[in-house]
Amino acid sequence: MSKYTLDTKTDRAHPTPRPMKRLTVPAIRDRKTDGKSGEPLVMLTAYTIRMAQILDPHCDMLLVGDSLGQVIYGLDSTIPVTLDMMCAHGAAVVRGSYHSLVIIDMPFGSYEASPEHAIRSATRVMKETGAAAIKMEGGEAMAETVNFLTNRGIPVMGHVGLTPQAVNVLGGHKVQGRDEATAEKVLADARAIDEAGAFSIVIEGVLEPIAREATRAVSCPTIGIGASVECDGQVLVAEDMLGLFDRVPRFVRKFDHIAERIDAAVADYAQAVRSRAFPEPEQTYQPK
Ligand code: KIV
Repeated sequence: MSKYTLDTKTDRAHPTPRPMKRLTVPAIRDRKTDGKSGEPLVMLTAYTIRMAQILDPHCDMLLVGDSLGQVIYGLDSTIPVTLDMMCAHGAAVVRGSYHSLVIIDMPFGSYEASPEHAIRSATRVMKETGAAAIKMEGGEAMAETVNFLTNRGIPVMGHVGLTPQAVNVLGGHKVQGRDEATAEKVLADARAIDEAGAFSIVIEGVLEPIAREATRAVSCPTIGIGASVECDGQVLVAEDMLGLFDRVPRFVRKFDHIAERIDAAVADYAQAVRSRAFPEPEQTYQPK
């Protein structure tokens, strides 16, 4: 039986298990004022309803990242991820969350051609998922699009630095900012997206001094991943920090080792089935 009870004081479409209100885009944006941020923002990726339910009470934001391509579908990169995938997983995460702001990643090929292209895809994402915001990769080149969407009711989270959809241009998942040209690009990209109206910016895979300078240079909160403690918040792929994968990037801290615990539990199950120790009378139906 579900432990959730219906709270009639909250939105009928999203009854909450506990009295709580979903965080809004302005609430996240306002966590940084006059260049100063308070308590760091907590963001994790979520792709499925059950994970969303578990992560939601602890987070400020849940990101339905296009990293689901690798994590859920076993793809080599985020390039093949489709709008259909993002909409299906995004809707599940919105259904499973009550507190966090949910943000959906725009997949490669769904927004880059023009602001009109982007608004068509983003509108579909927002209608089909119920999420309040989208994220898109890219800096100066995407500034016009960020501004176009923001002014038409679609809040945008930017993403600069190591942008995985540009893996073929960057020549791999390389830390950015080791040379003057990439350091300047990260800063120019962050400034452009901030000025265009992004409510927050993910900074991925950059050296600490660049992350610090970018965070100080923009008015909206920055969310770091492999970008040091200098950002206004942090994001990780939930499955990485839980220890579901053996190999993770250097910037990940494994807060658990759930792969080992799943392995042990499944070994117990297999042994119980093979020895006929499972199922027992409690798991067996008998005629009344
Ligand atoms: O797709 C994703 O998970 C992301 C985060 C890692 C920032 O973009």
